[in-house]
Amino acid sequence: MPEPLPPGQRDRVVLRLYEQLLELEQRLIPTGMHVFGHPPGDRQAADMLRMVASFDRPELDARSLPDLVARGLGLASYRELLKESSASEERLKQREQVESIVREAVEILLAGGTAGASAAAAQLAGRASVPAAESLPTLNILVRILGQLSVNQELDSLTRALRGEYIEPGPGADIVQNPDILPTGRNTHAVSPYGIPSTAAFQKSEEVAGALLERCRREQGAYPEAIGMVLWGMDNIKTQGEGVAQALWLMGVEPLRDAMNRVTDVRVLPLERLGRPRIDVVMTISGIFRDLFGTTMELLDKAVRTVAELDEPSEWNFLRKHVREQMAEGCPAGDALIRVFSNAAGNYGTNVNFMVLDSQWEQTEQIGDLFVARKCFAYRRGVEGREARELMERALARVEVTYQNIDNTEVGITDVDHYFEYLGGLSRAVAKRSGAQPKAYLSDSLSPLAKIRSLEETVRLEARTKVLNPKWYEGMLRHGFSGVAEIEHHVSNTFGWSATADAVDGWIYDEIASTYVLDQAMLDRLRSLNPHATRSLALRLLEAEGRGFWASDQAVVDRLHDVVADVENQLEGVRQ
Ligand code: BEZ
Ligand code: MG
Repeated sequence: MPEPLPPGQRDRVVLRLYEQLLELEQRLIPTGMHVFGHPPGDRQAADMLRMVASFDRPELDARSLPDLVARGLGLASYRELLKESSASEERLKQREQVESIVREAVEILLAGGTAGASAAAAQLAGRASVPAAESLPTLNILVRILGQLSVNQELDSLTRALRGEYIEPGPGADIVQNPDILPTGRNTHAVSPYGIPSTAAFQKSEEVAGALLERCRREQGAYPEAIGMVLWGMDNIKTQGEGVAQALWLMGVEPLRDAMNRVTDVRVLPLERLGRPRIDVVMTISGIFRDLFGTTMELLDKAVRTVAELDEPSEWNFLRKHVREQMAEGCPAGDALIRVFSNAAGNYGTNVNFMVLDSQWEQTEQIGDLFVARKCFAYRRGVEGREARELMERALARVEVTYQNIDNTEVGITDVDHYFEYLGGLSRAVAKRSGAQPKAYLSDSLSPLAKIRSLEETVRLEARTKVLNPKWYEGMLRHGFSGVAEIEHHVSNTFGWSATADAVDGWIYDEIASTYVLDQAMLDRLRSLNPHATRSLALRLLEAEGRGFWASDQAVVDRLHDVVADVENQLEGVRQ
């Protein structure tokens, strides 16, 4: 038995645990797939509205409801409550009080039809002394969203598109980032690359980049000299360039706009303003980003060149330090400056996902080698994808931390194979070249506190809220065959994080096995809905065990083998 903790310490541990449970409970998850033409149900709509309502929208004079309620109750700002709720029970209670009033307001709004906004405003005035004039701008946005969610024109637009008719354009983004994406069923358009990063994205990114660096310093004792970063196209469309803005912040420059308000250059932020060294950022960029954001690739390259030329001490400018080291090793100046890498022109993806999911590797370093082979093409003004494998390897050899910005609640790191293909592939590439597996981090740029999580924490959060969460898997199972396939994808994508980053705790595999294979009733359901995916799921668990990612009981391994054999017999029509 461990020694009991002293009471003060015990209370802190319990509070921290409680806060982690709240994080799991409040995490937005898809409870089923999107069915084309179907609007979301009430529950989903309420969750979505609460999330939308938790952000200030100065362009519409709309304030975040949790902030209005906190202020109306005479408390600290909601941000402060969030920050302090893991260390103070009083703050935690206040935070819960604020959240419960906001939840009630959204329920009233949902139930109130056309009078919903005024009914919710009355509740907020009564319960938290929020003047209606202050809450109504936000509540009216929620009512508008609610109306737009219910007029689903996806099928109508599809059939009109198939007839070659005109489809109205609409912006592409996350609903929380930009509610103007509604109604759906429009012809999604992206952004002008010259607007990237937007002023709002740049402002927001200071906090995220700062939180990343602080966390690294706390855990590793010093700022990382070099960070390997993943930049995707869709994400930078949705966020108006948050990932790009974070890269600029890490290097310590800001975007400069010309007379037409186009971002065409960068300006150096003084070291006194940064209060920390400039980081060497090695950018690994998707093919989609490259196609959409040519001018942004040039901007990032310009930022690298500008920062490397600054006359600053090495300990305050790691980029300059590394470029000079590379030049001292005989690398020509122009080559030593290359930090923007993507696929060869016309190519996309890392193929790491195929290698991992098809079990086509023996040593993990093959995964990193494939990543480099696919991504070692240098881009800068006038240079469209020059193969530069050795230069990429030199840059990766200095990387201590890998990172990707996560900006939405709909697609997480185990929903698709692309996260492990990129961030995981990059991490393995760094491991071989730097001699150590880098620490990987992800941001949660939608959380009000610019949260940074380690990869391991993010995998745990995903597992708890999705593949091990009955609300999530029952939602999937309602879709029958494809629901089981989706569950299997999650298991395989979780496995992808073992293959590329050793980031999956053994208990996650234990619980996946208990939930889906050792529970006979669940196993029967999966088998009858989709025996192929059931077989793949069991085989993936066996592969995790066989490759040493999971130390399982022999009895469980034996059971998995039996299940695979049974399902194969079922698929081959063998009577038992
Ligand atoms: C992108 O938007 O850049 C992207 C999308 C899917 C997979 C990988 C990258
Ligand atoms: Mg895909």
